Amino acid sequence: MTQRHRTGAAAGGLAAALTALALLAGGCTEAAGGVRGTPGAAGLRDPYFPKLGNGGYDVRHYALTLAYDPASGRLSGTADITARATQDLSAFNLDLAGLTVGTTTVDGVPAAANRAGNELTLRPREDIRKGAEFRAVVAYAGVPEPLTDPDGAREGWLRTADGAVAVGEPAGSMTWFPGNHHPSDKAAYDITITVPAGLEALANGARTARRTAPDGRVTSVWHTPEPMASYLATVTIGHYETTTERPPGAVGTPPGEETPTGSPGPSVLTAAERSLAARTAALRAEVPGIVARQERLFGPYPFAVAGATVVADGTLGYALETQTRPVFPLASFDRTTLVHELAHQWFGNSVTPASWRDLWLNEGFATYAEWLYGEKYEHVPARKRFETAFAQEANWAFPPAEPPTADNLFDAPVYQRGAMVLHRLRETVGDRTFDEILRGWLAKYRHASATTADFTGYAEDVAGRDLGALWAVWLYGDGRPSAP
Ligand code: ARG
Ligand code: ZN
Repeated sequence: MTQRHRTGAAAGGLAAALTALALLAGGCTEAAGGVRGTPGAAGLRDPYFPKLGNGGYDVRHYALTLAYDPASGRLSGTADITARATQDLSAFNLDLAGLTVGTTTVDGVPAAANRAGNELTLRPREDIRKGAEFRAVVAYAGVPEPLTDPDGAREGWLRTADGAVAVGEPAGSMTWFPGNHHPSDKAAYDITITVPAGLEALANGARTARRTAPDGRVTSVWHTPEPMASYLATVTIGHYETTTERPPGAVGTPPGEETPTGSPGPSVLTAAERSLAARTAALRAEVPGIVARQERLFGPYPFAVAGATVVADGTLGYALETQTRPVFPLASFDRTTLVHELAHQWFGNSVTPASWRDLWLNEGFATYAEWLYGEKYEHVPARKRFETAFAQEANWAFPPAEPPTADNLFDAPVYQRGAMVLHRLRETVGDRTFDEILRGWLAKYRHASATTADFTGYAEDVAGRDLGALWAVWLYGDGRPSAP
């Protein structure tokens, strides 16, 4: 589902103009039912990853049915994708890297499939009318190959000694399921995973069923009703212990914080690789308390479920804010990183960047969330964190809203200078207005995607003044300004 907020008139006018152009350009095919479709675009022209995502449709729901054999590394799956056509479609693409595609259908009728690079093209027997909802089903199998990002990070389906961990920021989800792999198209998910006897299989959201087949294999069904960007989808398979944590506000709430947040709070499930369960138990038990504190800072937690999964070191080199259940290698499982990844549930997962250029809306905000948390609960003023960040040369390599290349997306300026932008905004408009901006931003763009311009425009609306000078220096300016 695409839930960009925009001025309807302008967007509608543009769409009409584009349709007219497409008609003039010709290339349409006459099809049964009178629909003259054209192929959907093979990419969404993301500034850093132009081929990620696809045009012509909008996914509503993914039902992924997966089976994994850790011994051979073989994954077999079916992706049942419900989408709405945003143009008359003769064909459309899904992003998929590696693996072998089997049967493909659209609305139950076999559809022709073609593969080129990471693009899988499906051509339904009949063209799809703009606005129509359709179902594409793709069967696939093989040993998934992880990706190495431009910055050298490994992502996608990462194999472990007894299982796997699947993560996908920014592009790795295409290594384990076909989809519209761009953050601007969010959808609901149901992920069903079957693994050999004795193994656990975790994914996003709530487990709604778990059953054992006569052959001993175990199937778990995981449900995520809220919109999710595909880079936040996750699966963890192996020997894991799971714990249902106490609800927020129960015994153990820090003194003075007994006041209810006004929300019942999410249900919380944490997991740890079995050899790490005991030593991570205390910090995992802090998840409900941290979420409750963050609700006081940002407003209601956006999902029905929260949690954390701790995996063995050597699998992935960073923590990731996978929706409802962020994943941490043991080496990154500390309180600061936990606060950061949980803050992403609001900043990034609920309000999602419209393109990868807008990543500072995730990382700058999650970093500033650490500063706010530290100020309110750990007696470290945000101003102090600002001054430390200001003094560091590496934070000034480029402006946070304009990373020079894809290998710089996750560099220090996006995180630290991004947080500095927010601190300067706060100092400029005052604490009360800043709080109103932060909460209002999360409420207005809840479960949607947003651009940097959406944020700067929204902040100016709430503040009731032009903040162009602030953005020019802190968000877009080259180099370090004089100390404020
Ligand atoms: N979003 C993760 C965080 O919370 C970092 C992901 C890193 N990915 C990468 N390709 N370098 O900071
Ligand atoms: Zn982050």
